[in-house]
Amino acid sequence: MIGAAIIGLGTWGQNLVRSVQGASPHIQFTAAATRTPDKARDFAQTHGLRMLADYEAVLADPDVDAVVLATPHSMHTDQIVAAAQAGKHVFSEKPLGLDAASAQRAAQACADHGVTLGVGYNWRYQPALQAIRRLIDDGTLGRVLHLEGNFCGPSAYRFPKGHWRHDTGEVPAGGMTGRGVHVIDAMLSLAGPIEQVTAQSFRLAQDFGVDDTTSMLLRFASGATGYLGTVIATAETWRLQVFGSNGWAEVGDVEHLTTWDLTTCLIDRDNITVKQPPKVQTFAKTSTERAELEHFAQQAAARQTLAAPGGDAVHNVAVLEAILQSIATQQSARVS
Ligand SMILES: NC(=O)c1ccc[n+]([C@@H]2O[C@H](COP(=O)([O-])OP(=O)(O)OC[C@H]3O[C@@H](n4cnc5c(N)ncnc54)[C@H](OP(=O)(O)O)[C@@H]3O)[C@@H](O)[C@H]2O)c1
Repeated sequence: MIGAAIIGLGTWGQNLVRSVQGASPHIQFTAAATRTPDKARDFAQTHGLRMLADYEAVLADPDVDAVVLATPHSMHTDQIVAAAQAGKHVFSEKPLGLDAASAQRAAQACADHGVTLGVGYNWRYQPALQAIRRLIDDGTLGRVLHLEGNFCGPSAYRFPKGHWRHDTGEVPAGGMTGRGVHVIDAMLSLAGPIEQVTAQSFRLAQDFGVDDTTSMLLRFASGATGYLGTVIATAETWRLQVFGSNGWAEVGDVEHLTTWDLTTCLIDRDNITVKQPPKVQTFAKTSTERAELEHFAQQAAARQTLAAPGGDAVHNVAVLEAILQSIATQQSARVS
């Protein structure tokens, strides 16, 4: 059993605690630190969390095995390095960082200090997305040719002007850091590294600082192509469709944390002119947050790596960096 401290008790920090507290044989939150403790005292008491003065106090506490970061994006990499130096395993919410060099530095610090780093890409624990991975691995879909994704919702309207979610230093490229990085992570897990992006991003609905309409074309190292859109001034939705040389598979819904259906449609090569009906498979409900935290705790207990230097979580930040470069130059950008 890993004893963890939650850092940042805002919306998502509280959600992460609730997903496992008292229900997991692998991880238990025992302590917390947050910028404004008064806002979270009742929550901490209800969930049996010792409220510590600050992050430094958490890192100095010998009863804390791991820290879970649910803080603004610009804080992640320095907090990860500090955790590694203190010998604590660390699970950081996405994105791992805002530039590839800092993300790599954070992953390297964890590797150097022998602590496990996890990054909050909970979609990887969705049964429907895992099923697409199996359809690729066993050859059912054939060669992956193209991927299409979007992740949209009314985030731009949810936060008041001046909130960190409207600071382009925290959330560059519109919905990319809040939403798009999840789709990129899913694409990386299904189609491998991305080598080139062409992106555009605009403020069309509201001028609170961040863009609300962002889209990009992707070229994967495998030769596959893709495109991704994120609109954060519209109604909630997400979708990922993978096109293979034998057919396609699609997941998506209004609510991204509770998507259980997978639709597939395959070619019949003996009857190529016959349009095949799609098949829908429904998976059992699960908590992707609990799954990701338990996997992290198990890897930490076994001192095994999760997010490694040069791995997908770092590459995801390099893709974000290339997207920003492409938006700025209005040209395609190579991913470093
Ligand atoms: N995986 C997912 O599906 C998912 C979903 C949502 C969010 N997230 C991620 O979770 C992380 C936290 O997001 P959130 O929605 O929980 O944000 P939030 O509600 O604004 O909470 C942020 C927390 O960090 C604290 N904080 C510390 N320093 C801060 C600073 N300088 N400025 C603002 N807040 C500061 C806040 O303290 P106060 O109490 O003083 O505000 C608050 O406790 C982000 O990385 C986000 O991308 C992931």
